[in-house]
Amino acid sequence: MKTVYITRRETFNAAHKLWREDWSEEKNWEVFGKCSNKNWHGHNFSIYVTVKGKPHEDTGFVINLKELSALLKELVVEPLDHKNLNLDVPFLKGMLASTENMVIQIWDIIKEPIAKAGGELVKIKLVETENNFVEYYGGDEPY
Ligand code: NI
Repeated sequence: MKTVYITRRETFNAAHKLWREDWSEEKNWEVFGKCSNKNWHGHNFSIYVTVKGKPHEDTGFVINLKELSALLKELVVEPLDHKNLNLDVPFLKGMLASTENMVIQIWDIIKEPIAKAGGELVKIKLVETENNFVEYYGGDEPY
């Protein structure tokens, strides 16, 4: 049986700011630009979760996308959607609310539940704006 990579997209929107208290306003602006705006701003995020596996004999599915979607809604979308990433999200407490930090945290949260649902998580892509997105492969280089 051949290995197939399957991806589910979910969307959410959330507010944040990138800001270090131990830096001056100028330095925050210099490093974080518009994302350092003191009074917050929002992004419409898309998250692409890729799972690999061999199509199951009974279903032809690598993983049931309904099940994967439900899992992502519960573990990712619900905790993040319409939230302030700096203030409202326990798993981002104490860290900069960057897309890089977000994917690393999300990886740790969804890896096991996806394994229990029969899939192997191989990649998360988190899109913050049309032009900016990050990809994470669980700490290993993909190539
Ligand atoms: Ni931003």
